[in-house]
Amino acid sequence: MTNDGKRYRVRRSGPLRGSIRVPGDKSIGHRSLIFGALGRGTSRITGLSEGLDNRATADAFAAMGVAIETGSGGTGVHGVGLRGLRMPTTVVDCENSGTTMRLLSGLLSGQRFGSRLVGDESLTRRPMARIIEPLRARGAHIAGTPGAKPNELYPPISIAPLVEGESLRGIEYTMPVASAQIKSALLLSGLYADGVTALEEPVLSRDHTERMMLALGVPLRTAGSSVVLDPTAEWTGGWDPFEWHVPGDPSSAAFPIVAAAMVAGSELSVEDVGVNPTRTGIFDWLRLSGANVGHRPSGHGAGDEPMAEITIAHGSMRGAVAGGELIVRMIDEIPAVCALAAVAKGVTEIRDAAELRVKESDRLATMAKVLDAFGVPCEELPDGLIITGGQPLRAAHIASRGDHRIAMASALLGLVADGESVIDGAEAVDTSFPGFVSLMRSLGAPIEEEAS
Ligand code: S3P
Repeated sequence: MTNDGKRYRVRRSGPLRGSIRVPGDKSIGHRSLIFGALGRGTSRITGLSEGLDNRATADAFAAMGVAIETGSGGTGVHGVGLRGLRMPTTVVDCENSGTTMRLLSGLLSGQRFGSRLVGDESLTRRPMARIIEPLRARGAHIAGTPGAKPNELYPPISIAPLVEGESLRGIEYTMPVASAQIKSALLLSGLYADGVTALEEPVLSRDHTERMMLALGVPLRTAGSSVVLDPTAEWTGGWDPFEWHVPGDPSSAAFPIVAAAMVAGSELSVEDVGVNPTRTGIFDWLRLSGANVGHRPSGHGAGDEPMAEITIAHGSMRGAVAGGELIVRMIDEIPAVCALAAVAKGVTEIRDAAELRVKESDRLATMAKVLDAFGVPCEELPDGLIITGGQPLRAAHIASRGDHRIAMASALLGLVADGESVIDGAEAVDTSFPGFVSLMRSLGAPIEEEAS
């Protein structure tokens, strides 16, 4: 993390009220930058988040010769075409961003120049064999770094160039886990292959890459959880620049929305939130738990991404069981789900969520510790958590472990605990949700931010 240390001080909150917007969707932001950089001319993107993760992707393209400027009219990306990237002038520093590392690894595997991708301490602990192995199987010269677990590979990642006359091959691949990062790495590399990329996931993960490729005329077909990209089909071999808007990030909106569900008397609305069905599990979960969630469509953004105004009013929350497809549709929101579970009456059971162990932190282990610190009974399972909610919470002192969503979930718990809670490592929030504290304060939440 390059930014300075921050700490939150959080006290019990009265009702949260207001109408807000949240920063642009992080996943859609990365992809907008990628497709803008590879387009034939200048694309204009509005609503791009100023979070550090999206900035890492923009900086990577700048180092590969793509001019990017941001002004009052949004972000201009001077695309260089599919074959126009230059060898990066430095190592590609993906910082804390797994999406930057995995998607760019796919894209860079298809180039005639070499590259090296590095990350911060948290990213360096995240598994990369899941992209390296299938990319190698299609002919990429990509290598990771051995580390903690045998048979796993970690950053840094090195990619050697494809030589003259050499191409990536087609691949038919059944993905072992539902992961938009694996899927997107393979689809991006598939743009440079001499054959078909055919992928099948256990459950459909976020489909932003597919929607953008379709919107840009890339020869792609989707059916349920399978996708086929055939770059040998008739097409122009590239796309024209675009102008589009990045919807508000539902994964960021989840925090004020869940806070409103937790704090009695709250009522709020969030405008222009992305409501792609692969991302809206959290709103379904809130309804299932007893919150009053409203949804009013407000048009489309980036490619073909539906947006809506989401309204929420506090209701009487009860625990429930979450597993299977719903987990994939709210994979990044589980820390917020855990905070909600602390106030929901009865037992909340989270299953099929082993993927949480390889996010910015081991989110099952970290949330179990956080809940315990707030006095919430919690049992950790190999693939989930069992949380017993509805009892008074005590104030806690939390270490966020470099994980933005752990810091924000802990802040939510602080809003319903007795006394003052302290959240260390809150600077991590700047990766996805710059302005989180001022936005929560504008709703009435007693959160203060200080240097640490
Ligand atoms: C993302 C995919 C998900 C998600 C991450 C963003 C993306 O990761 O957790 O925050 O933009 O493709 P996985 O692909 O590892 O599930």
